Amino acid sequence: MNPRHFTSLLDLSGEEFRGIINRAIELKNNHDPDYQPLKGRLLAMIFEKSSTRTRISFEAGMTQFGGNASFLSPRDTQLGRGEPVQDSAKVISSMVDCIMLRTDKHETVTIFARHSSVPVINGLTDQQHPCQLLADMQTYFEFRGDIKGKTVTWIGDGNNMCHSYIHAAMLLDFNLNIACPAGYQPLPQFIKAAGERVRLFNTALEAAQNADLCVTDVWASMGQEEEQRQRELVFKDYQINAAIMNAAHKDALFMHCLPAHRGEEVTAEVIDGPQSVVFAEAENRLHAQKALLEFLLCKK
Ligand code: CP
Ligand code: NVA
Repeated sequence: MNPRHFTSLLDLSGEEFRGIINRAIELKNNHDPDYQPLKGRLLAMIFEKSSTRTRISFEAGMTQFGGNASFLSPRDTQLGRGEPVQDSAKVISSMVDCIMLRTDKHETVTIFARHSSVPVINGLTDQQHPCQLLADMQTYFEFRGDIKGKTVTWIGDGNNMCHSYIHAAMLLDFNLNIACPAGYQPLPQFIKAAGERVRLFNTALEAAQNADLCVTDVWASMGQEEEQRQRELVFKDYQINAAIMNAAHKDALFMHCLPAHRGEEVTAEVIDGPQSVVFAEAENRLHAQKALLEFLLCKK
């Protein structure tokens, strides 16, 4: 039988996504150190890019569940010396129980999954960051209840996080207002597939009207460091600040996947202010991914 993979949020149904969110909340609130469903199991974590949250949350999650996680970087594996992805997937999956991969090209994750005999998890690609959305949605559910029918505003780059928000809107049925500078909008095929739920706006202020949740991310993602200065100019009107939060609903939340650049995509006043839930969001990476690991590895 083919294993279940998590290369994209769209690998889940809406019902499965809600199930993982609710299970994550349950695991967080009723932590039981004796519950070790992954005893003796090993997660291989391949990181071709930096990480704090993703690495630590998967390591801690596997440990709490009685298993282990093995950190692999291209510097010290043959992947970095050009061993084909297909061969690596076959070999690594013959020895471990699950593989998490953080890499540039989304295709690397889908090829890896096709040739892996165990579940493959997307730990971020240039196109999508689905694990972060499990945590973001868990956080929204904890603070405000179900997100169905609510309005989320995305301001900034139409990047991997924005794409995964589009997928979350499709699965959980919320409205997503997006404001990105021309030339930095999300992939048109993703917008089209989401239908009327997803709307593009010309200005950040228009997009923020009546929002229940405002979200942003860095202007220059990993791999775009050389574009930093030019992006600072292009994105200067796409910052989440007090004026944006004032246009949103009074009880709107603010989220950011972190790491953040205060004074660029968000002001310190907002990210360190009362509407911000960024540290609960970061902690929830642990709980949401434990629920994901259980879903992929323990479900009959
Ligand atoms: N948000 C997130 O994925 O953080 P890391 O890059 O630290 O893993
Ligand atoms: N868009 C960012 C997210 C980091 C968690 C990046 O890809 O670098």
